[in-house]
This record gives sequence, structure tokens and C-alpha cells, in this order.
Amino acid sequence: MKVIVTGGAGYIGSHTIIELVSSKFTPIIIDNLCNSNISNINGIKKITGKKIKWYNKDCCNKKDMYEIFETEKNISGIIHFAAYKSVEESTKNPKKYYDNNIGSLEILLDCMNKYKVNNLVFSSSCTVYGSPDKLPVDESAFFKKAESPYAETKQLCEKVLQESSINFVSLRYFNPIGAHGSGLIGDCSSDKPANLVPIICEVANGIRENLIINGNNYNTIDGTCVRDYINIIDLAESHVSALFYLLENNQNNFFNIGTGKGLSVLQAVDAFEKANKIKINFSIGNRRIGDVEEIYSDNKKVKKILNWEAKRSIKDAMKSAWKWQLNKNNLKNYS
Ligand code: NAD
Ligand code: UD1
Repeated sequence: MKVIVTGGAGYIGSHTIIELVSSKFTPIIIDNLCNSNISNINGIKKITGKKIKWYNKDCCNKKDMYEIFETEKNISGIIHFAAYKSVEESTKNPKKYYDNNIGSLEILLDCMNKYKVNNLVFSSSCTVYGSPDKLPVDESAFFKKAESPYAETKQLCEKVLQESSINFVSLRYFNPIGAHGSGLIGDCSSDKPANLVPIICEVANGIRENLIINGNNYNTIDGTCVRDYINIIDLAESHVSALFYLLENNQNNFFNIGTGKGLSVLQAVDAFEKANKIKINFSIGNRRIGDVEEIYSDNKKVKKILNWEAKRSIKDAMKSAWKWQLNKNNLKNYS
């Protein structure tokens, strides 16, 4: 079955392509590499032994998108990853985020209506909940005020989907970490990393002197913020479950994609140190604007309805994150 994967060269997209191929889907990538590298396309080929069809096009270009839908017949579903994801950049340049994240979805929905394609898996985020009143947070939680323009785009996209006539599943990811065990694909973001684990890896590699922990005076187990870190391979697999759900049910739905367990920043550092036997220098800095104190998922709904749950360890994710750190520059240079 043919599945269009927008943003398929990116971090989560590339790992999902591997899972789609293992489940006998035929993925087709649309990605203009605005935040990724051709090394991920090469890595996918090495891992799967298959050359995946790839359109180097912008999802916000309606004419190009129509042409792709015109060419590709019998599309069973779409997974829409293509979006910008830097929370910090979104606060400095909100328009860039509104245009790409909301614009690409609107064009995609237009194409789906015009070419009668009906199943969409959408990349949402736990950021839609803002700072939740109750933990673990479940899918029925009321959306609090968005903490950033990035968060706003995810809230708005979910609204747009609800008002549309297509069949969709929105996956609200918690914090994906790690990379494929081969070390051949991973996060190739063009910006300097802003997420915790890639920064820890840079400290381990000597690229940065130390990790600055964004505050240790929160009301949490050790004063540092708590997140639900999830192994990227588990997260990638959830898309296959979501696609099967859409193909079998004519029903829209929303699911949390997390482990159900919270880990503090200090606990995450400790997990990296133990997994890789490397000491991480850190210091305590100020709180980061817009940070949520504590968030982790209630994953009962996704277990019950999609029959999906996270199975892999944080230890493995920390090991693969480190392997990717050691490999990634060589892969980019030789691609
Ligand atoms: P990523 O930047 O690695 O991947 C996104 C891909 O989309 C990139 O390859 C980029 O080149 C491509 N892209 C962006 N805009 C495009 C456009 N207009 N046309 C064509 N290609 C375009 O990001 P990711 O971490 O893989 O995230 C994928 C999705 O998941 C995003 O929607 C993101 O908001 C969401 N998400 C990510 C996280 C996370 O922590 N990584 C958490 C929650 C939600
Ligand atoms: C946020 C969003 C997530 C979004 C992702 C994209 C929330 C709850 N989550 O993730 O939906 O998709 O950004 O980037 O809003 N930290 C440090 N020092 C550092 C870096 C991080 O202490 O140098 C801390 C942060 O303050 C945070 C934790 O590590 O407490 C995780 O941070 P990060 O990896 O950036 O992810 P989120 O901000 O949770």
C-alpha cells in the first residue's frame, strides 16, 4: 500500500520510513530538506535495501503538490511530518511557523479533497496541552494557553483537522530521543541543537564545555523539569499502528505517544552517563522561558485502541543517540 510521507527525510520521518517498509507499505517521501540532510535518504536505502521514491519539493507549493498527487495514484494514506519544530525560533519568527506548519497542512488537505485521499496521520505534540492541571495528562485534557507560536501551530492544526472532512489520527508525541541502532539515520536539523539529549551528546563529544540545566528550583523530584522521553523506534512504530487504525476504522482520533513515565533532567543526564560510561559536565542555569514544569503521558487510550505501547529502553535510546553523534558528521560529509 502506497503512503505519502511529508518530511520523510527528517528525524522522526526517516525512522518511520524504516518501520513502514518492514510492514510492507510503499512509502513515498516529499521533503525539501529545509531541516534535514540527504544523508538520511542514503541511510534509509542502506538500512532497508530499497530506494524510496523521493520528491524534493516544498509542501507549501500548491502547484508542485497537485502534480505529485496527479502522478501518484492509489494513495492509501498520508503521514504529515513536514513542519518547523524549534520552540525558541518560533518565538523569534512566529510567521515562519504559521506559514509553514499551518500552510502545509491546508495545502495537503486541499490535495486530499481534490484527489480523494482520505487517511491522514498528523504529527502533533504534547505541547498542545500547555502546562496541564493533572498528571499524567490524558487526551481529554483541555488545551491551556500555548506556551509558544510553535505550540499554537499544533493546537491550530488539530482544530483545522477537526473541521475538515477527512479521516485523521493525531499523534501527540512526548519527547523522542535516540536514533536507529545502525547509526545511519538520525536528527540532521540544520540549526544548533536545542533539545536536551543532542546537547548532552555534544558535551560528551567535547563540542560544548558543559550542559546548562535550565533551573533546579521547580516543584519536582529533584527540582529539574520532568518529561516523558520515548525511544524514537517505539515512536516510529506508532505510525504504523495509526495507519492500520485509519484503514480499518472510519473514525478520527487523538493519541498520546509516550511511555507514561516522567524523567527529570538530572535523571536523563544520569541515564546517559550510565548507558555510555561518560561523565557529563553540567551547571545550573536560569529557568528557560516557556518551559513546562512537569509533563508525562497517560498512555491507556493508545494501548487500548491502537494496541501500541513503548517497549524499548531509555538506556538503548541514550546509546543510539551517542552512536549517531559520533557518526553524523561523517555521513553528512560523504553524502
Ligand atoms: P525534522 O525537522 O527532523 O523533520 C521535519 C522534516 O520536514 C525535515 O526533513 C524538513 O526538511 C521537512 N520539511 C519541513 N517543512 C517542509 C516543507 N514545507 N516542505 C517539505 N519538507 C518540509 O523534525 P522531526 O523531529 O522529525 O519532527 C517531525 C514532526 O513531528 C514535526 O511536525 C514536529 O513538529 C513534530 N514533533 C516533533 C517532536 C520532536 O521532539 N522531534 C516532538 C513533537 C512533535
Ligand atoms: C519541547 C516541546 C515539544 C516540542 C519540542 C521540539 C513541551 C513540553 N515540549 O520539548 O512538544 O516538540 O520542544 O523541540 O513543550 N534542557 C536543559 N538544558 C538544555 C536543553 C534542555 O536543561 O540545554 C531541559 C529543558 O529545560 C527541558 C528538558 O531539558 O526541561 C527537555 O527539553 P527539550 O529537549 O528542549 O524538550 P522540550 O522543551 O520538552
